[in-house]
This record gives sequence, structure tokens and C-alpha cells, in this order.
Amino acid sequence: LQNGLGRTPQMGWNSWNHFFCGISEEMIRETADALVNTGLAKLGYQYVNIDDCWAELNRDYQGNLVPNKKTFPSGIKALADYVHAKGLKLGVYSDAGTKTCSNQMPGSLDHEEQDVKTFASWGVDYLKYDNCNDAGRSVMERYTKMSNAMKTYGKNIFFSLCEWGKENPATWGAGMGNSWRTTADIADNWASMTSCADQNDRWASYAGPGGWNDPDMLEVGNGGMSDAEYRSHFSIWALAKAPLLIGCDVRTMSQQTKDILSNGEVIAVNQDSLGVQGKKVQSDNGLEVWAGPLSGNRKAVVLWNRQGYQATITAHWSNVGLPASAAVTARDLWAHSSFSAQGQISASVAPHDCKMYILTPK
Ligand code: GLA
Repeated sequence: LQNGLGRTPQMGWNSWNHFFCGISEEMIRETADALVNTGLAKLGYQYVNIDDCWAELNRDYQGNLVPNKKTFPSGIKALADYVHAKGLKLGVYSDAGTKTCSNQMPGSLDHEEQDVKTFASWGVDYLKYDNCNDAGRSVMERYTKMSNAMKTYGKNIFFSLCEWGKENPATWGAGMGNSWRTTADIADNWASMTSCADQNDRWASYAGPGGWNDPDMLEVGNGGMSDAEYRSHFSIWALAKAPLLIGCDVRTMSQQTKDILSNGEVIAVNQDSLGVQGKKVQSDNGLEVWAGPLSGNRKAVVLWNRQGYQATITAHWSNVGLPASAAVTARDLWAHSSFSAQGQISASVAPHDCKMYILTPK
């Protein structure tokens, strides 16, 4: 959506992948503190997004959403003020149905304008809009209604469509919102992560400044994958111009998790001003090359070993989009070192790990 938001993929944190419904205003405040204290905020992680379960099951007598009285007793406006004072932004979650997916709070169906006005009055900066309990009404009707309400009353609110890729939202999402989910929910394991990456890849041509494909939020640091697998997860999401929404507990994350999420060179690929989604360009029995263009005639390349054994992977310039004889400086974004290459780039890659480079023509 060309509303001035999401000129690069959104970065931040979301409560769902780690906490599910176990959220409270204290932990949201502590998370905002941690994003600043760990340096993640400075690297661009700015949205603090509350997912499902933040509201009372029933609206008030005027039909307004009511923050959960036990877990969010100070209300969302107070939380937005707190987060804004730290230089961050606050996100909330609702659903294009009668209830959200947890069934623990109301959805916004037929309350679209009222709810957007509420969010705007609280100073909310981001809305994730889910797809449960649809009352038998079409995706188009339900998402169009909310999109129109957002265009009128939520002009400064980033709009994230969570339709799970069911009706090819890449083909209509850019007219309605700033990102759209292309997959079912990610889980904290290798099979799920790789499948999200592949499904999302099919829609690469639809992404661009203002509207991004969303293969779901990061699982980095949640414990179900190895550091090599999390490195691959983060590298591919960055290359694919996916939202970088941290899904772990940043208050207690390990140094290894922090090192992955804090790789500024990888983040810079994601946030590059050209805004073109990189994609799978070579595939040989689980030995893959993903690549895409960056500003300044540069290319980003990931050598991804999806096999269970150490393997050499070679990316050929023809697949990376460089003239066959081009000489480049290759920057290794995980080793933080540079070398020269011509015609191809080759490396031995550990099982489920990757190498990531920026190639700059000489
Ligand atoms: C759906 C969404 C998830 C999360 C949950 C909350 O499954 O796809 O990302 O928001 O609902 O219940």
C-alpha cells in the first residue's frame, strides 16, 4: 500500500512465537526496554507488536474493544506512550472475523471503523489482521472493509495482512496493506521454516517498497533449531525482503541468538533501498543458491546447504545476474571479511548452514 509506510520491510518484535497468549503489559514494557538495551532497536527493530489475547472477550456497552483488565490493566494507550518514549512503535492485533484465532477476544468484523478509530486514538502504529472465524464471508469483503477503514482512519498505521496465503494475497495485497502472509503459521523447526521459505519464494515478483511478502515471523532463539539453522532462517528472510519480526524472548536471549539477530550486514540486505526480493536461482538436490539485486549494481547471494552433510556449493554469475566475466569484491556477511571473485563463487557449507555475500562489481 502506498501510504508512505513499509518502504523497506518492517522490523521489530512480536509476542506470538514465544509467548502465545501468555502476555502482559509488564513483559511488553520489559521487551521494549530490552530492545533498546541490547542495541537491537538501533539496528532497526522498532515495532513492538502485541499479538492475540490482549483484549477482553466482550466489548463495552458502546461496542469498543477493552484491553484485558488483568493482563493490561493500564490499557494500550499507556503502553503506546511508554514504547514511544523509548523511540519505538507499538503494534496490536485483530482479526477479520467474529473472534480472533485464540477465541479469547473479539475480531473486528463489522466493527472496522470503530476499531481503527480506537487504535488511532491510542497511538497504535501497526495492525496485524488475522483470518479466523470468518462467519462464512469472503476474504475480499472482509479485508477490503478493514483496508478502507485503515485508509480513512488509520493513515499512519502499518497494515499487515495475515490471510495465510490462502487466496493468493500477493496478487491483491499491495492494494490493501503493507505486507501479506504467504504461508500458514511457521513452527520452530527446520521442516516448517524451509517450507515457509519455499512457499514465499513463489511470490517474489509481487514484493516491493510499500508491500512485502511475509513468510511469517522469526523463530530465531526459540530453541527448536540449531544456530546453523537459525543463521539460514535469518539470512533467507533477509534476502527475501521478509519482515524481520523477532519472535523470541529478547529479555533472556543467548549471546548466539543476539549475534544472529544483530548482524548489521545481513540486516542491510533486507533494508536495501532497491527493495527487490531475492529468490532461489539454483537448486541441486538440496544444495541451493538464492540471490537478488541490491542498490548500486550489487548482488546479494546465499549459498544454502539444505542437506545433512557438508557440501561445496558454487553460484554461477549467470544465475546471480552478473555478466559472465565480471570481477567482484565479495563480502562474506557472516565472517565479516572480503575477497575477490570472478565468474562464480564457491564455498564449503556445513549441514543446514549457509554463506551469505554481497558482490560488488569492480
Ligand atoms: C494465527 C496467526 C498467528 C497468530 C495466531 C494468534 O494462527 O497466523 O500468526 O497471530 O493466529 O492466535
